[in-house]
Amino acid sequence: MLRSILKNEIDNIKAKGLYRSLRKASLSTAENIVIGDKKYINFSSNNYLGLLNDPRLAKAAESAILKYGIGAGASRLLTGNTVLHEQLEKVISDFKKQEDAIVFPTGYMANLGVVSSIMDSRDDLIAADSYIHASLFDACRNALAAFKVYPHRNVNELAKILKRYYRDKRRILVITDGVFSMDGDLAPIKELGEVAKSFGAYLMVDDAHGTGVLGENGRGTAEYLGCEDVIDIHMGTLSKSCGVLGGFISGISELKEFLVNTARSLIYTTGIPPVLCACSIEAINIIKEEPQRRRKLLKNSMYLRKALKELGFDASEGVSHIIPVIIGENERVMEISSFLYDNGLIVPGIRYPTVPRNQSRLRISLQATHSDNDIDKLIEVMKDVAINFDDRLLTR
Ligand SMILES: Cc1ncc(COP(=O)(O)O)c(C=O)c1O
Repeated sequence: MLRSILKNEIDNIKAKGLYRSLRKASLSTAENIVIGDKKYINFSSNNYLGLLNDPRLAKAAESAILKYGIGAGASRLLTGNTVLHEQLEKVISDFKKQEDAIVFPTGYMANLGVVSSIMDSRDDLIAADSYIHASLFDACRNALAAFKVYPHRNVNELAKILKRYYRDKRRILVITDGVFSMDGDLAPIKELGEVAKSFGAYLMVDDAHGTGVLGENGRGTAEYLGCEDVIDIHMGTLSKSCGVLGGFISGISELKEFLVNTARSLIYTTGIPPVLCACSIEAINIIKEEPQRRRKLLKNSMYLRKALKELGFDASEGVSHIIPVIIGENERVMEISSFLYDNGLIVPGIRYPTVPRNQSRLRISLQATHSDNDIDKLIEVMKDVAINFDDRLLTR
């Protein structure tokens, strides 16, 4: 019975052109990836600085495993909290120039924990950008607060929402991504912060994709935009530019103390393995000491964006390492993604519900460790895409 119900649901997904399946890599998932016995250039990873297979992280892992074992063995609130957890939190707060930080097993859980524990009353209000990451949407739905969405990057519309609903609210939280995960554009953080403050609201920025990458010191989107002081809750991940796994919240010291006491996704789950803390400590040290990695990433992004524009693709303006090429139709984007795959390139097609309907796209994510040859190969195949697929793809 369950089998036939699920088969039916799966058939519906297929009929809508939204079927997804898993690919299996047989070697590392860095800038080159082996699937079966074929090598591909990977334009689909969040391993932006190429740290995922850095031997220094492997060495840190080895010595941490010998000392602490693999798992944390319990929730951090019981016996799953080690010297390495606390050391990582100190490294993060120093890096982010915040009073303190708290690490969760994943970024998803960090978002869930912070939003649902702070915004836990029906007298609270959350106002969030319409393009925030799915983990933030889930976090907002999980919170008891009223939840309003403002159009993407639209500060005026945010102001209208706050003006209409702010009275009698106990707490108000404005939430945005720093770098938007599917569009690669940046939030107007300074302006959001100013509007938030004028209504007594707090600002939370999920900088999963900006952390380690943007800003002179890699502190993220707000450092790049010169407005770190308007943010009350800084969220970041250890799974992207750090090449490891985990999520963090940083800010005032009471934020950590409060989350240790209230965040269910921290309390009722096993602590992040100490070995991963050791790897993230090493990764953040490299991020601080090797700015050339983020400079190379920026250079790669500028080079590819310019080339795609010259080919006539709708690759939006921007500076970041996430480059969307909007195609529109689900089936068409998957056809192009397969064409790229057949030519040795992994560039995922992203469809509804991850992005709005009719905005299916190729999502190219770059790494500092992509060579000029890797990017030239992509440009060359995109030239073939422009020739082989119909001209509705092109903006001109
Ligand atoms: C903007 C954003 N926030 C949060 C997350 C979740 O992070 P993690 O993969 O560490 O759970 C992601 C992951 O894709 C993301 O893109």
